[in-house]
Amino acid sequence: MAARGASLNSADIVLSVRDLKKHFQPRRGFMAALRGGEAPVIKAVDGVSFELKRGQSLGIAGESGSGKTTTARMLLKLVEPTGGEVVFDGDSLRDLDGPDLKAFRRKAQLMFQNPYEALNPRFTIFRSVVEPLLIHAIGSPQERRQRVVDALRQVHLEPVEHYLDKHPHHLSGGQLQRVVLARALILNPIFLVADEPVSMLDVSIRAGILNTIKEMSQRLKLTTLYISHDLSLIQYMCDMTAVMYQGRIVELGPTAQVISDPQHEYTRALIAAVPMLEPR
Ligand SMILES: Nc1ncnc2c1ncn2[C@@H]1O[C@H](COP(=O)(O)OP(=O)(O)OP(=O)(O)O)[C@@H](O)[C@H]1O
Ligand SMILES: [Mg+2]
Repeated sequence: MAARGASLNSADIVLSVRDLKKHFQPRRGFMAALRGGEAPVIKAVDGVSFELKRGQSLGIAGESGSGKTTTARMLLKLVEPTGGEVVFDGDSLRDLDGPDLKAFRRKAQLMFQNPYEALNPRFTIFRSVVEPLLIHAIGSPQERRQRVVDALRQVHLEPVEHYLDKHPHHLSGGQLQRVVLARALILNPIFLVADEPVSMLDVSIRAGILNTIKEMSQRLKLTTLYISHDLSLIQYMCDMTAVMYQGRIVELGPTAQVISDPQHEYTRALIAAVPMLEPR
């Protein structure tokens, strides 16, 4: 703790990831057991390093199975790394437990890909959004209600009264993803991970959801990590872009630079695969 906030510069860094690895040892199948061989280890993430400052947004692009979600899960301490380190807001995630872990759970939030799975179907929208405040014992009932109302308003679910007592099955996928965002933001986090946040939604409503995420991230000066197959989405949302390939970051830099002057063959293939926005 002594080094925490030692200089203005290091205090600005929210996330520091060093040589992060996650190797999975698949269970030996029946045939492999007969042959006596070990199944080869899966190097889902194999030496990922980067830093993110307060307010920065990083997009991770890469093909299916390249290790994006596994990386994100390690950053949120949902999966323990095989190697390397994640330092979040000055503390190594490895050592976090008890009240420090609870504080981390408040500061770092996740938006799931599937809003239908993210919300309890039996809870009203109010109950889902107020839940984090209850878990962290924040506010009086009136204060909590006000915070839920404010959060729903900020994600443009209005009139708020129309939504509070509804259940998830009354809402569209896009509206549900807004509820998920409201719930993620209600504890005033500093870090938001959005793993394919619009890929399950209708194309026609994606831009609106992305705009709201972007608007809220900027207003709250959130550090954000977006994961997407779609480089044009990352181009729209992120200052920095990382390209993952087979468990490694093969390219990382300011988004405009990565897209206008890709260094890696695989990045060029990704760019060729989607219609990109005009630079201006
Ligand atoms: N719990 C697990 N056990 C074994 N292997 C796993 C596990 N989780 C992930 N993997 C493997 O690790 C690799 C990376 O998976 P990951 O889900 O991180 O990829 P991704 O880039 O998020 O892919 P997608 O774009 O399809 O979501 C894949 O080969 C996957 O099969
Ligand atoms: Mg994934």
